[in-house]
Amino acid sequence: MTKLKVVNVVGARPNFMKIAPIYEKMAACSQIDPVIVHTGQHYDQKMSTLFFDQLGLPKPDYYLGVGSAGHGVQTGRVMIEFEEILKELQPDLVLVVGDVNSTIACGLTAVKLGIKLAHVEAGLRSWDRRMPEEINRVLTDQISDFLFLTERTAFANLEREGIDSKRAFFVGNVMIDSLLHHREQAAKQKILDNLGLASRGYALVTLHRPSNVDYAEMLSPLLDVLTEMSERLPIVFPVHPRTRARLTEFGFDERLAACPDIHLVEPLGYLEFLQCMDNAALVLTDSGGIQEETTVLGVPCVTARENTERPITMTKGTNILAGQDPQKIREAVFSILNGETREGRCPELWDGAAAGRIVQILLEQMCPS
Ligand code: UD1
Repeated sequence: MTKLKVVNVVGARPNFMKIAPIYEKMAACSQIDPVIVHTGQHYDQKMSTLFFDQLGLPKPDYYLGVGSAGHGVQTGRVMIEFEEILKELQPDLVLVVGDVNSTIACGLTAVKLGIKLAHVEAGLRSWDRRMPEEINRVLTDQISDFLFLTERTAFANLEREGIDSKRAFFVGNVMIDSLLHHREQAAKQKILDNLGLASRGYALVTLHRPSNVDYAEMLSPLLDVLTEMSERLPIVFPVHPRTRARLTEFGFDERLAACPDIHLVEPLGYLEFLQCMDNAALVLTDSGGIQEETTVLGVPCVTARENTERPITMTKGTNILAGQDPQKIREAVFSILNGETREGRCPELWDGAAAGRIVQILLEQMCPS
């Protein structure tokens, strides 16, 4: 029997923990021959290789090495390189995850060659088309043959855009598969000991959205909020390369160095970051995935964005959407520090078994007996 050849695409940091459980299930399935293609959108050891090691992913079968560039150049380079790989491999299916530039670039390349496309984490919408990720989501969903949903609200979003619900499957959240699988191992990491921090005795901060960090007039008041927070409890702030560059460009390095309780650290590995999240008193972030991870961990989360494509983290989880106004962010943070936390509940099917459901559905759809 010929196996189903599936090309799994990874490009940027938030993709690795989503592909890891899917790849594992595919590799264990006698009917599937899974391949990993890494576009190289993220390439630093701390943004890429470290994640492969910690998540138990094998080295990618193909590495395209596209690197950083403007949206057009980056997307174009991925398409040019990926097309060659697809012509060589002639897979039955390409599977993409999330909403980064590599997602739409590889998806578009696949469907133009007549190859079936699966999109994992489909149907999420912030309704804010100024976000590059929103464009990537909308377009990838339009061209996908199989759409795998993390929350039920996504069905209505897809319907609104004329996407046939027969192509959409509610399966849960593969990123949570990885989280539940690695939580115990994360608890054994040494990052908190090394930083001299106690469980629930610190706040964890991540900021990397262009809308927050690319403008000095946005970033500066956010740093004021961090300074104020750090007078109450220490802060761990793993700094994304984009943010690191802006802090230096805007001359903010010294200002932060003058705050002894703001621990700026390099981007952390998956396990170290999970340990930091699991033990934080609160998390302040502008990431998408972290809103979901804190929901499952039951850790209060303040999101410094005007909108979220992940509404279930607010309706069921611990997420507070504070917006980008520093005063609102300050209020949300201090309300939590003053004890006003809410009990989060784990969303439906975020149970560690999403990847298995995806593989099962793909087999049923692609190899009907
Ligand atoms: C990308 C995704 C974003 C995701 C984020 C997670 C898009 C449009 N954006 O944004 O959705 O939340 O990844 O990190 O796909 N850089 C390095 N080393 C690296 C990678 C990047 O130094 O390994 C630096 C480069 O200077 C680069 C900048 O970071 O210009 C931004 O990287 P890029 O991949 O363009 O976008 P992100 O902000 O990481």
